[in-house]
Amino acid sequence: MTSLKRKILLAAQALAVLAVGVSSAAATSDEVRNKLARKDCVRGKFANYYLEGKGGDPSADYRGRVFKLSQNFPDQLPPAEKLPWQAIDFKDGAPVDPRAYLQALLEYGLEGNVPVDFYVEDNTVRKWYGMPWMDWNTEVASDWPGTDGREFVHGFTHEFDSSGNTLSTLQRDFVDTWSGAYYNDRAAFGIGQVYCNPDDPKPGALNPDPTALNTFPDGAFIIKLLFSTVTEEQLPSVKNALEWKAHVFANDDPRWRNAGPLSRFKREISTIRMIQIDVSVRDERSTTGWLLGTFGYDGNAPGDTPWKRMVPLGLQWGNSPRATFAETCKGPNGPCDQSKLTEQWINPQALKDLNTAPLNFNHLGYGGRLAGPVDNAKASCMGCHQTAGFPVVPILPEFSANGSVLGLDAERQPQTEQSLRMMYQGNVASGVVFSDTQLYSSDSSLQLSMSLQNFVSMRCSAGSPPDAPSLCKQLARWQGLQRKSIDAVLTFGKPGPDGGPLPSNPD
Ligand code: HEC
Repeated sequence: MTSLKRKILLAAQALAVLAVGVSSAAATSDEVRNKLARKDCVRGKFANYYLEGKGGDPSADYRGRVFKLSQNFPDQLPPAEKLPWQAIDFKDGAPVDPRAYLQALLEYGLEGNVPVDFYVEDNTVRKWYGMPWMDWNTEVASDWPGTDGREFVHGFTHEFDSSGNTLSTLQRDFVDTWSGAYYNDRAAFGIGQVYCNPDDPKPGALNPDPTALNTFPDGAFIIKLLFSTVTEEQLPSVKNALEWKAHVFANDDPRWRNAGPLSRFKREISTIRMIQIDVSVRDERSTTGWLLGTFGYDGNAPGDTPWKRMVPLGLQWGNSPRATFAETCKGPNGPCDQSKLTEQWINPQALKDLNTAPLNFNHLGYGGRLAGPVDNAKASCMGCHQTAGFPVVPILPEFSANGSVLGLDAERQPQTEQSLRMMYQGNVASGVVFSDTQLYSSDSSLQLSMSLQNFVSMRCSAGSPPDAPSLCKQLARWQGLQRKSIDAVLTFGKPGPDGGPLPSNPD
């Protein structure tokens, strides 16, 4: 290997983060997206739920409704309707009235979906869709492969579990989170382009224009409902929460399940309660091109339905990239000074209520940034979401190899190692990758990146035969080059026998 080549590989070791102070680059128009979109797409091929037709089906005596993935993605971008949040002005990349903006997002996400219990294909107001490949999902690294996949009642996937004491001081044991996300037609167009050929996904086709950033179109919107197995005894504020039946783990303790065997992941129909709603929207006026917001359930809030008792917690349009932990927070559990976090809005009343015993949300996300009650408290909405891309990368510095080498411990010492940590709190522009270990951005959609991950985990066998999906071939080549670049770190600058560069293996 020439030394120039080695230098290039070395440079490629560095994780790249793009801090943007201005709105994302000129966007691709609807017209161009439509002109370049593939129109020969194959639809209807994705499984609906975990082990469908392979032993995961409802039992003969099950009388309830069975989830069907809404997957007839549009091949043309539906004309932009007048979206309600677009009526709210922006100044310097931020909405002038964040609370009203957030409320407009929620109302749009609920419209027509509430009366049909989010069986969105029955929505009579507008069309909604789901993400392919979430039937076989490995969301949490310690969970057994595929076991987090969609259950058959609502199509919910299993997420991060909350250990005792996380939600309230009365919560003794683990409670499990189950959730579902729904994409509007503008978002679904992008998903449909990526999965135009269900057997050969093209992550770079999210925006069909190869000369532009790999973005969802403006107006793409996603709503996510988060349910928990938590009861009112453990968390008094879930009283009168929306209760649904779902086919979820019979045993709530992930440590017990993950010790195996597979039979410990047995599922049964039981009750789950809605505790959080997340929304995210692509809006080119925002600092990052996205806004992410969240609502928490409060049984004491006014409102005659559980949907109306969802209290706004906050909205993020950027990560406030310059505010280090030591500058914003007094200690690992706060308090944190909101005035330094200029790229978000936090509802001050909700923040106070969440800290009132027995509720135990004594923190927001990292350094006081927005994160939801069932999210990892040392992360933030945008911190996790801006990593979205293929291949997937760790969503938290703690989970990365770098974090493990540096011995990060966010619970006890969140203020240390800011150079790495703050990379996760930078502002990645919409459609740009987070790290140079990624090939494609999935533009803030972590379900899209997980979906692609789930695809390759099942479809790319070792050795990548000639008929393998193109993504598998790219991944195999990527893997080889990643290994080589690490080797190069060890040998760079070391003289060979004649004083020249050490010979290296050809590609
Ligand atoms: C610890 C990392 C993490 C944090 C913090 C986080 N998310 Fe997510 N989010 C994920 C992952 C992983 C997924 C995909 C898996 C899933 O939905 O089951 C996801 C999915 C979503 C989706 C579904 C759409 C999609 O494709 O990404 C929305 C909407 C969403 N999150 C909004 C939010 C909001 C709003 C917040 C802050 C209140 C937030 N998230 C905080 C990791 C995170």
